[in-house]
Amino acid sequence: LDTTIRPGLEGVVAASTRLSSVDGLAGELIIAGFPVEKLAEKATFEETVYLLWRDRLPDTVELENFQQELAARRSLPQVTVDLLRAAAAQPVPVMDALRMAAGTLSLDATASNDQWSEAKMLLARFPVIVATYWRLYNGAEPIAPDPTLSHAANYLYMLTSQRPTPAQVRGLETYLNTVSDHGFNASTFTARVIISTGTDLTSAIVGAIGALKGPLHGGAPGPALDMVFEIGDAQRAEAVLREKLEQGERLMGFGHRIYKVRDPRAEVLSSAAARMFHTGGDMALYNLARSVEETAVRLLEEYKPGRNLQTNVEFYTALLLHGLGLETELFTPTFAIGRACGWIAHCFEQQEANRIIRPQSVYHGDRGRRWKEESQRP
Ligand code: ACO
Repeated sequence: LDTTIRPGLEGVVAASTRLSSVDGLAGELIIAGFPVEKLAEKATFEETVYLLWRDRLPDTVELENFQQELAARRSLPQVTVDLLRAAAAQPVPVMDALRMAAGTLSLDATASNDQWSEAKMLLARFPVIVATYWRLYNGAEPIAPDPTLSHAANYLYMLTSQRPTPAQVRGLETYLNTVSDHGFNASTFTARVIISTGTDLTSAIVGAIGALKGPLHGGAPGPALDMVFEIGDAQRAEAVLREKLEQGERLMGFGHRIYKVRDPRAEVLSSAAARMFHTGGDMALYNLARSVEETAVRLLEEYKPGRNLQTNVEFYTALLLHGLGLETELFTPTFAIGRACGWIAHCFEQQEANRIIRPQSVYHGDRGRRWKEESQRP
């Protein structure tokens, strides 16, 4: 038995996958055969989901059918809406509401009599749960899903009650495609561990939501944007960031376990954000973010030399989603809407050649302790 411990499983290869390839030194991300730059800007989200689940792009009829199958599964069971109402009365953060509501979907047995139906139902309902909760959370009544709209367009419509423009839908689809899958990140690995026990898809996806919620994984874009707002003016960037680093704080939106060069997703999302801000957005905010990025990368090299702490996906996620009119509290839930595609694809892949994931640990606790009766402790 090799007892070398690799904290955080860093450098451990746990499986082979056809879904995505992350090359952290070259700064390259391939999703089901396509460089992320090519796929993200062209595909509809439904095409990306089909690609990852079936390992090929759909033809016209297959795509049409797939869109309709997803759209037909959007409506939430009453019990889920009731739970969201109770959660909004507290209120709980949106990711907690999504996690709790996703668990209730198992009650809707008719929608999930086989695993494919369950997969489509889960994917179709993520945006509906988030938008329904968002409206309740803000004291508004939910809006019914519109089956004539695409997955992305329907999400924006259910959040805002406004029909989104094609540019907004394109912006959101580019984002969802960009984050659809990313190797063995923590939430994907969580989903694979759970499904490897032979349990159901919903259990695996609920666990993955819990993992994504953490600030070291999917919880960073909100704080990243707050940091840009806090800086407010490019002139102040250096002083504010230096102060944070002096106090040992981490700069949100920078650093990555795998990428030691700029995350390729940052490039895709920064171009998408630039396009969005050009067509009617706040270009000043975009320019401020570029300047904050440049200063942050320079200071990180000064404070953590040789660590190669570069911009990660979250920094421009924040900018793009803000440009779409989404509040910061919706950033991580929107990430979950995109990543649900990859979680489910990984569950299928794990099941194809399953072996329960069960690593070992090295014990470093005491041995040979003598039992003492309660009255004789400590
Ligand atoms: N700001 C300041 N210092 C940092 C940052 C940062 N953003 N990231 C890493 N460091 C420092 C660490 O403090 C550490 O320094 P030390 O060795 O002097 O203590 C060194 O760089 C190495 O950091 P690790 O913690 O070993 O890096 P790890 O691979 O474990 O963590 C992580 C990667 C969690 C993403 C980290 O870079 C971080 O906390 N970033 C900020 C949060 C963030 O943006 N998360 C989103 C990641 S993208 C995603 O999950 C979708």
